Amino acid sequence: MKTIGVFDSGFGGLTVLRELLPLLPGDRFLYLGDTARLPYGSKSRATIARYAVSSAKFLADQGAELLVIACNTATALALDDIREALPIPIVGVVEPGAESALAAAIASKQGAAASQILVLATAATTQSGAYRRTLEGLGLRATEKSCPLLVPLVEEGWLDAATHDSVTLEVLRIYLLEAMEEAPAANVLLLGCTHYPLLRPLIETTLEDLRHPMRIIDSAAATARAVAALAPQDVTSTASSPTRCEFYATDSIEKFQRLGSTFLGRELPEVRLIDLGG
Ligand code: DGL
Repeated sequence: MKTIGVFDSGFGGLTVLRELLPLLPGDRFLYLGDTARLPYGSKSRATIARYAVSSAKFLADQGAELLVIACNTATALALDDIREALPIPIVGVVEPGAESALAAAIASKQGAAASQILVLATAATTQSGAYRRTLEGLGLRATEKSCPLLVPLVEEGWLDAATHDSVTLEVLRIYLLEAMEEAPAANVLLLGCTHYPLLRPLIETTLEDLRHPMRIIDSAAATARAVAALAPQDVTSTASSPTRCEFYATDSIEKFQRLGSTFLGRELPEVRLIDLGG
């Protein structure tokens, strides 16, 4: 049984944990949501690196042997700092996400050479240029669009078609229209923030309304596959030991359990409150 630490600035990384659980049954998972210091996406590189390194060290201190940075902002701005601080294997979400975009571009009717990848992400991720560099390194054209209002809308749970969807749809429409002005030929949409998979149905509706079909990609499943490749299963231990998940948060346990269940797709057990400072 391996201990795998999964870290995000908040709840979004639970979408990655959700993909990991069926791939690595029998392992022990430690999930930390640094909810007290969320959002990372509007902060400076130095602050994001400080928060991300302290969160990663907490998980290593709890016994994590492999760490998943299930946060696009922390991956884009602090992956090197975390790797320098900890001597364990570390997987971020940017490379797996970019590789999924490449696969989608190759499979598209335009093919990889004529494809254009549109990346929606937080302001910090966009400013870092991490996705653009990684995608261009794979031979793809890429445009990044910062969408700072989307994380708060997801945090508020304004995803329900029956209630607040019109506000969220309007915000998505504005962001996508602006992005399409810059990237009119975009045919692959990469969700470069762990909160955005929850917006997927509303994004699909918006793209239909705008008559601009795009293949939508998120990095959760690809990241889980990259982790599983690094941490292959020991078949004998898998059969006998149940998967264990421990959850830690740095702010309201009640909110973590309520919102977290939406991201994980099932009820969360006990969540422990920890203090990582400011
Ligand atoms: N987890 C962050 C990301 O994937 C979004 C939330 C935040 O800004 O902290 O970029």
